Amino acid sequence: MFTREQIAARVQELASDIQRDFNGQSLIFVGVLKGATIFLSDLARNVRLDSTFDFIGVSSYGNNQHSSGEVRLTKDVEQPLLGRNVILVEDILDTGLTLTYLKKLLLAHQPACLKVATLLDKECRRLQAVKADYVGFKIPDEFVVGYGMDYAEKYRNLPDIRVLPPELL
Ligand code: IMP
Ligand code: MG
Repeated sequence: MFTREQIAARVQELASDIQRDFNGQSLIFVGVLKGATIFLSDLARNVRLDSTFDFIGVSSYGNNQHSSGEVRLTKDVEQPLLGRNVILVEDILDTGLTLTYLKKLLLAHQPACLKVATLLDKECRRLQAVKADYVGFKIPDEFVVGYGMDYAEKYRNLPDIRVLPPELL
């Protein structure tokens, strides 16, 4: 669906947007494990601001392809977020259930600002009305893997983003 060159160019643009929006300020990137780790590492390296990382882990009950809507925290953030500029970094925004859960959780820490960066957005699948502030690519309803994203924990290391053929699902 997207080559490594297309991804790199778009991530650079998102990083420039973030750098412009937070000019002169410091940031904490909070990546959602494990799918967002590669996106976070590329994004953060292109934002030339004082920044740090943290990670949050969630798992949703359900099968590999679809989240059931019930989200469970598997790892909390480790740094204080009170008064910080937080960028939540997601691989893909699908139904919006995970992001809705995470936004509520992070807002309880009272950050100065909470923004969401997602590499991919499957807008047509949304069940919860939630939006990301920085979106890499809007994509149709297809199951994708690579660049951190998995199917049953496989394919995360593919450098490009590929559509998983439906017969493999
Ligand atoms: P949501 O709660 O339905 O928005 O789920 C978002 C999460 O589902 C993402 O962070 C991914 O982990 C996973 N997900 C949704 N669609 C895909 C896909 O096409 N490939 C890989 N993971 C996906
Ligand atoms: Mg994920």
